[in-house]
Amino acid sequence: MRDKSTIWDSPTSFGSVSRAFHWVMALMLFWQFASVILRAVAKDTAVYKLFWSAHFQLGFAILVLAILRSIWGFANLSRRPQLEGVTGMLATLVHLLIYGLMLAVPFVALLRNYANDRGFSFLGIQIFGQTGMKNSELALVGNWHGFMGWVLLVLVVGHVAMALIHHFVLRDNTLRYMAGPRQAV
Ligand code: HEM
Repeated sequence: MRDKSTIWDSPTSFGSVSRAFHWVMALMLFWQFASVILRAVAKDTAVYKLFWSAHFQLGFAILVLAILRSIWGFANLSRRPQLEGVTGMLATLVHLLIYGLMLAVPFVALLRNYANDRGFSFLGIQIFGQTGMKNSELALVGNWHGFMGWVLLVLVVGHVAMALIHHFVLRDNTLRYMAGPRQAV
């Protein structure tokens, strides 16, 4: 019997799970980038304190979501819309970099916490505790956290800009993949 599910991706449209991952991640990254932009330009304000207060917890949630999203992406690799040509290769490269940084940026921050003997809890659940030892060499990887975070912001802005240019300027209806009607497979 043919499966008429819209959960999975199809060559003409992303399914409901990929879309949920995409738009929830977009909202979380929006908040996360607001927190670091405000940290750079308005550090003494109440709005900065509000956004920054979620930076660590949201950062960890982004890491978990990025892991789940990567697994789901692999499971759907052969079904999802295929990007073709040189621009397609470029887009694939940018998407891979975004995935890599969504994993690496929070990971190095957590590694820095671990190396600095700080421990980390998510919503009251201990992810790792204090070890009683500091590793200053390992902690140095944390120096990459901010830089890689800014690179991620640039790539995400580029990704959004290219999607909008394709849809509204080149008029190739690109947004249908992530926001149009879903195709049953
Ligand atoms: C995808 C998730 C994350 C993104 C995109 C992100 C992004 C950034 C960026 C761009 C900065 C630099 C701000 C500046 O230049 O002032 C920063 C700083 C910081 N982040 Fe994150 N972050 C994430 C997750 C985390 C997590 C999980 C933690 C904690 C475990 C964390 C802890 C920090 C700390 C302590 C700073 C200030 C020190 C520094 O610049 O390295 N971040 N973050």
